[in-house]
Amino acid sequence: MELLDKIIETKQYLLAKIQQAPSIGLVLGSGLGVLADQISNPVIIPYHEIPHFPLSTVEGHAGQLVIGQLSGRTVAAMQGRFHYYEGHSLAAVTYPIRVMKAIGVQQIIVTNAAGGIDPAFHPGDLMLIQDHINMTGQNPLIGPHIETFGVRFPDMSEAYSKTLITLAKETAAKHQIHVVEGVYAGMPGPSYETPAEIRLLGQLGASAVGMSTVPEVITARHAGIEVLGISCISNLAAGISRFALTHEEVMETTEKSKGKFLRLVKEIVAAM
Ligand code: HPA
Repeated sequence: MELLDKIIETKQYLLAKIQQAPSIGLVLGSGLGVLADQISNPVIIPYHEIPHFPLSTVEGHAGQLVIGQLSGRTVAAMQGRFHYYEGHSLAAVTYPIRVMKAIGVQQIIVTNAAGGIDPAFHPGDLMLIQDHINMTGQNPLIGPHIETFGVRFPDMSEAYSKTLITLAKETAAKHQIHVVEGVYAGMPGPSYETPAEIRLLGQLGASAVGMSTVPEVITARHAGIEVLGISCISNLAAGISRFALTHEEVMETTEKSKGKFLRLVKEIVAAM
């Protein structure tokens, strides 16, 4: 079946289950899925029940779509995302973004856990993503050009909306939530980086590093969706940290900063 036909089927399946179409999408990263638990009157749909959706495998990701009300807005939240390192194609990784667009989403907040490269960062910091560097050697838009989805050569000069970054900064200041800003380097994973790779990424201008987000943001921009990106700095990157990196550390830190993260995102959604 053609991608476009699949998306139409998924869209019809989802729209039949909900009262109101969402205008804001939330992609929730490792340890940050709890935000979806705050959605009121939720319609919860496990990914395995959604036609043509891939299946998520990674620990710390519930694997369900939650559609309902958050801060007075109708949102569609992905509790768990798909990663390239799981063996999914980038077409699969970004399928939910195409679906979000099809059901009415115009703005998305993408979140992730990331390793801090900027020496000024501390574990637990929330970083507003100013821009990204695609280090995956891949692009989700490689393949036949489908006019309906967007242009062949989409502009990425404002991948992360300046307007939304300003709104996020103002919201953070108003509620006294400390945020930092920086450039996210998207690696394929699943191994963490070597210290030499982290030094290289730092020289390239990266402030933080992770294994997600970039494919989804490229696809969202291609689809004309406005993007806000927030990284939870879960650890200092390899070679900066004195310790070996573990997924448990990533989960523990995101767990600790989740209160701050929840408050920030809820207030941003209220202001969007
Ligand atoms: N590197 C890559 N991905 C990550 C890291 C890291 O240090 N922390 C959380 N996700």
